[in-house]
Amino acid sequence: MSTIYARITGTGSFVPSRVLTNQDLERMVDTSDEWIVERTGIRERRISSADQAASDLAYEACVKALEDAGLEARDIDAVLVGTVTGDHAFPSTGCILQDRLGAKNAFAYDFGAACSGFLFGLLQAQAFVRSGTCQRVLVIGVEALSKVVDWTDRNTCVLFGDGAGAAVIEAGAPGILALRVRSDGALADIISLPAGGSRMPITPELIAERKNRIQMRGNETFKVAVKAMESVLLEVVQEAGIRQSDIDLLIPHQANMRIIQALGKRLEVPEDRVYVNVDRYGNTSAATIPIAIDEARRTGRVGPGSLLVVASFGSGVTWGAAVVRL
Ligand code: ACO
Repeated sequence: MSTIYARITGTGSFVPSRVLTNQDLERMVDTSDEWIVERTGIRERRISSADQAASDLAYEACVKALEDAGLEARDIDAVLVGTVTGDHAFPSTGCILQDRLGAKNAFAYDFGAACSGFLFGLLQAQAFVRSGTCQRVLVIGVEALSKVVDWTDRNTCVLFGDGAGAAVIEAGAPGILALRVRSDGALADIISLPAGGSRMPITPELIAERKNRIQMRGNETFKVAVKAMESVLLEVVQEAGIRQSDIDLLIPHQANMRIIQALGKRLEVPEDRVYVNVDRYGNTSAATIPIAIDEARRTGRVGPGSLLVVASFGSGVTWGAAVVRL
């Protein structure tokens, strides 16, 4: 029996228009452009306006992805949203988005895998398409992290940004050649947003302690992220039966330039074939991979037949990688 592949047939992305530069941050916390660029590679990031929520960013990305795939919203069978900064605890951002898009025939839901959200979504879409449950699935990675960042904490506030990326997944060869995701809940406390759920319902005291804001042990995260992504990248490269020299573009999770460069070196992919936009957007969590894939396609860095290798790492902790033939 021949393998049914799932492939990306359309992509779209969107970032808010407001730019927050390192110079702006110098006026907000004790930091410097020099420190941020040297330690992270980030120069600026995009910030949502007060009335812009995750579904607003996702909507713009989805409209572009549908147009790119030549589809109408009613053609979509499922809307899968990877986010940790959805509009509300419930209803899901997926349902809000489904309604706004007019995807009347789709079921919709959210899932939280933090920065690995898009790859976890791709895995679900692949399973739905391969099993025949769905013909066409919209997978979205979206975050409005600026709404949950601690703007008084220089350790984290310089790192994150807002954005959305979407992809249409349909059956067709050759598509996703290998895809693996992993989790290790033993490291749950290295990146977290402790308050606001059923473990720690919000109280004025918790707000004063800033427990409703992102907390991260950056240095520990850095080390685990590099090791975890390297190992799963090597697994998918082997599973797909490709050589590292075949890779047209490596898209590592865009969290830190030093992590991106380390992965390029470890996989022996030359710098000009490693995608970087962390300088312009910072870490947009679940949105980094789909934004990068969309930009790479739209700027002609990759096209039909190109071999993409992507990897992500995020809170949970969660991580994953995929080999995708466009
Ligand atoms: N400006 C100036 N100094 C700073 C800043 C800043 N913005 N931030 C931290 N520092 C200081 C620290 O206070 C510390 O000072 P000290 O030595 O006097 O105590 C010093 O810089 C070094 O701090 P480290 O945390 O050791 O710096 P490091 O080189 O590890 O860089 C960073 C920190 C950028 C956060 C890095 O560790 C990193 O990128 N980690 C990975 C993040 C990541 O991959 N996240 C992915 C998942 S995110 C998610 O799921 C939502």
